[in-house]
Amino acid sequence: MHIQLFNTDSEYTKSLGKAVRAAVENHIDGRPTEKTLHQIIVQSAGAYPVDVLATLNSLGISYQEDHWAYRANTLSKSESELAVPPSLFADPHPADYDWRFDSATVLNLTDRLMAEAKGGKIALFGTKTVFPPLIELGADVTLFNKSKAILDDLRSAGYTAGLVECDLALPLPAYSNSYSVVLADPPWYLDYYQAFLRRTAELLRVGGIMYLSVLPELTRPGAKAERMVLLEEAAAVGMVLVNQVAGSVSYETPGFEQQSLNAYGLYCQNWRRGDLWVFEKQQESNEGLVEPVTIDEPIWVEYRVGRKRIKVKPGNPVDMTPFSYRAADPSGTILTQVSRRSPFRKDIDVWSSDNYAYTVTGICVLHECFRQLEANHSIPQIVSTLVSQGLIHHKEQADLIALLDELTQ
Ligand SMILES: C[S@@+](CC[C@H](N)C(=O)[O-])C[C@H]1O[C@@H](n2cnc3c(N)ncnc32)[C@H](O)[C@@H]1O
Repeated sequence: MHIQLFNTDSEYTKSLGKAVRAAVENHIDGRPTEKTLHQIIVQSAGAYPVDVLATLNSLGISYQEDHWAYRANTLSKSESELAVPPSLFADPHPADYDWRFDSATVLNLTDRLMAEAKGGKIALFGTKTVFPPLIELGADVTLFNKSKAILDDLRSAGYTAGLVECDLALPLPAYSNSYSVVLADPPWYLDYYQAFLRRTAELLRVGGIMYLSVLPELTRPGAKAERMVLLEEAAAVGMVLVNQVAGSVSYETPGFEQQSLNAYGLYCQNWRRGDLWVFEKQQESNEGLVEPVTIDEPIWVEYRVGRKRIKVKPGNPVDMTPFSYRAADPSGTILTQVSRRSPFRKDIDVWSSDNYAYTVTGICVLHECFRQLEANHSIPQIVSTLVSQGLIHHKEQADLIALLDELTQ
């Protein structure tokens, strides 16, 4: 397969070429490197595996293949399913940018937070995977998260206290100056970083510590400059960088990203790393803390079918357009780029956690279907009820069944 770069900015391509050459140190032209594809990807400063592979190809460097970065067709589905340990959370969804820490990182962060807090209060911003182990150790911990579904997963597993459903773009005066430590992992975009930094400045007491996962320099063109802006944003709210450990935060590759990589013949388990930046709140600041941060994301209604999460755009009840659907990404039903920069993201009306993404007309009928699926009705039952109620025509039936099958398979 011919692999094309996702990120074609010329400065970026040059930097990536440098990073890839450094990763295959001591490589002799014409000979394969000793390094595996997975090792090279992990050492390429956050560059997307598709870009690393395209760069290796263009530099004529061949590499060792291992089970961490197999071509998709060398790994059976049952093996790839086994690679992911069962979790108390339902599947991560790309609309939530839900990249979860791997188990070693969860343990490492838990130890750091316990040692730093010394019995003081710990706030987790979006970092739900660290919540259960901290509770087990008796920590005084609060999870602040926007996703009701994630908090419900924790409640179903028996965790009831310390869960706050909130949008961190908005002030939280009830909690100000009361935490010793914050662990934050926002989606890796400046508006989210700004919101999570402001909330940290609001909630931490002076002298408190924030651990923040930061996008590595080659995550995308512009990432290096974004890291500088982030430092300025932190300084503006009284937070000073006191330490950083490059690449020390490791992530599980979520199913939705696996699907996108598979479309390029890559398997690539757990390749993503974040840099851990440690900030100290050195002074009180009121700058911008009462102003909401504007984060431009669509509104979704979320449904759950088994372990899958399905997000659907809200419908307009007076819209009588007949039901129809098409893939949102012209290259197929799986969205090939999971980044916020994908030009097809805005066209998505229904999106599953395993990254099937469609544009839909007559969307109200889909909401009805998912409400009934959540109530354990079968797809044929649901569709025949809709036909008998006159909510869809006979000729729309087959399409509706095909879409529901794809989204819930
Ligand atoms: C990149 S994920 C971090 C997941 C983390 N690595 C873990 O292992 O739990 C970002 C998290 O922030 C949450 N989030 C996104 N926007 C938010 C907002 N405005 N307010 C609060 N939480 C938000 C998402 O629900 C998601 O759980």
